[in-house]
Amino acid sequence: MSYPEIRPRRLRRNAAVRRLVSETRVAPGELVAPMFVKEGLTEPRAIASLPGVLQHSRDSLRKAAVEAVQAGVGGIMLFGVPVSRDERGSGGIDPNGILNVAIRDVVAEVGDATVVMSDLCLDEFTSHGHCGVLAPDGAVDNDATLAAYAEMAVAQAAAGVGVVGPSGMMDGQVGVVRRALDAAGHSDVAVLAYAVKYASAFFGPFRDAVESALEGDRRTYQQDPANLRESLREVALDVAEGADMVMVKPALPYLDVVSAVRAAVDVPVAAYQVSGEYAMVEAAAANGWVDREQVMLETLTSIRRAGAQIILTYWAVEAARLLRERY
Ligand code: PBG
Repeated sequence: MSYPEIRPRRLRRNAAVRRLVSETRVAPGELVAPMFVKEGLTEPRAIASLPGVLQHSRDSLRKAAVEAVQAGVGGIMLFGVPVSRDERGSGGIDPNGILNVAIRDVVAEVGDATVVMSDLCLDEFTSHGHCGVLAPDGAVDNDATLAAYAEMAVAQAAAGVGVVGPSGMMDGQVGVVRRALDAAGHSDVAVLAYAVKYASAFFGPFRDAVESALEGDRRTYQQDPANLRESLREVALDVAEGADMVMVKPALPYLDVVSAVRAAVDVPVAAYQVSGEYAMVEAAAANGWVDREQVMLETLTSIRRAGAQIILTYWAVEAARLLRERY
């Protein structure tokens, strides 16, 4: 019988040594909380497929933003849910549209205590639910959509947002948004590009959250889950067009992509743990099938380990509190 001389288990003996050699930590300041605000609500409303996440009223959003700051989260990503929608998504551009109003509210409440970000996309505002305006044949018209994104970016910047997140996957969107911001005197507003966004079924619960009635699918602009090299091309284009940060979305099923993007560029890389990823864990935990907190922290640690330095997650506030106790 021969015994091993090299014993990796020595570094796993107790919590103290495990903490000492831990390679990956998730800090509250790296987490971004997505938040939904719905026009006309007087009370926040639950979202059935996203337990624990709310459609906020303007008031409850302000309070949630303050709580997020107190928990130490790095940012808040705002999504607006309008009462009425039209073909062109004009509610996204209107300075009195719900998202622009919410940006003003949150910035007035938290100032620079956290980074206020906004989704820059038309899908919450269009009657057909697509991320852009439609051509007469029903296809999403890339260049007409770019013009709308430019206006939307300027409206969000005028409302005081610190970072815009173009998420519609139109070709050239980062460059157009960057130039529009600069031309309007908002050169200090940063662009977090949803550079890599797959046509994913994991976005399902989000569509409930924003009450989107999407007709068809997004496969002519979001990416095929089968492709990795295509993502590197998307990222290179966005960085060349002026993206300050790039994002990969969804996160957990695409950790190989996160890792490849991290290796390919030097700008900060974010990953979005999307609604379906969150909902799966919540559903399993509600059945007693997995330990909710442990799985939450394990997924966040894994996304961080793969190379995302910023993580958008619906657990941001809760995870930030847990992590503060832990380290
Ligand atoms: C587009 C947008 C979507 C999500 C974030 N931004 C929906 C989509 O592209 O279909 C999904 C986020 C999630 O599922 O949590 N405005």
